[in-house]
Amino acid sequence: MITLISDVDGTLLGDPAALNELNEYIAGHRDYFHLIYATGRDVTEMNRGIFTEGLIMPDAAILSTGSEIYTVESGAFLPDVQWESIISASWDKNKVEEAAKQVQGLMTQGKSEKLKVSYFIDPSAAEQIRCRFRKLFKEQGIKAKIIISHEKYLDIIPENCDKGKAAEFLIKKLDMSSDSSVVAGDSENDTDLFESFYHGIVVGNARHGLRLSTQNRDFYMAGTDYAAGVLEGLKYYMQRLK
Ligand code: GLC
Ligand code: MG
Repeated sequence: MITLISDVDGTLLGDPAALNELNEYIAGHRDYFHLIYATGRDVTEMNRGIFTEGLIMPDAAILSTGSEIYTVESGAFLPDVQWESIISASWDKNKVEEAAKQVQGLMTQGKSEKLKVSYFIDPSAAEQIRCRFRKLFKEQGIKAKIIISHEKYLDIIPENCDKGKAAEFLIKKLDMSSDSSVVAGDSENDTDLFESFYHGIVVGNARHGLRLSTQNRDFYMAGTDYAAGVLEGLKYYMQRLK
């Protein structure tokens, strides 16, 4: 049994034909796989992925960059309130939004998520913006984590949370083991998944940031892109974890 914990955008999505092939492969071995998506998307965006972008229904989903966990029951996403109460203890969204007013170069994403505040940023200002937030958070005692991916997405989430920590919590809760879990990703906001697990697939189209943080570790570096890379890695781990 393998638990595949995969990012969505740029990992599963990007090549529809390859995604079909991966979906068919998983469907053909459905009893052998647990499927978990781990993404920056919220639940509306996740449903769009399932209804219009070719994703199959997973067994669970880690959404909003780890700040929400959903399990799937009778085809519907059910929020994990235990995870929410663990990570919300030190979270103050108002304080984060107030601090953001003092940072230049942020463009709203127009989303409203309970435990995540996100902006679009100008890639050339990414590091400057990260430093500015760090300084403000320190000065104002704000406990939050800053994750920048693709140099243009800025996510601010509770300090004790990310995709990796959410996945660890979920695996334990579902009584599954990390020995048989395989993560997959393409960008910087997947780094924490690779920190928390030791089997992983870096897709061929992965960004430099993820390559850097996963280098010299024993992950599968796929030669092909998007879902084709995930399938390539899954076949490798099916042999290895037999
Ligand atoms: C998705 C989310 C967005 C987030 C980004 C990076 O695009 O919709 O809110 O900033 O992922 O995690
Ligand atoms: Mg991605």
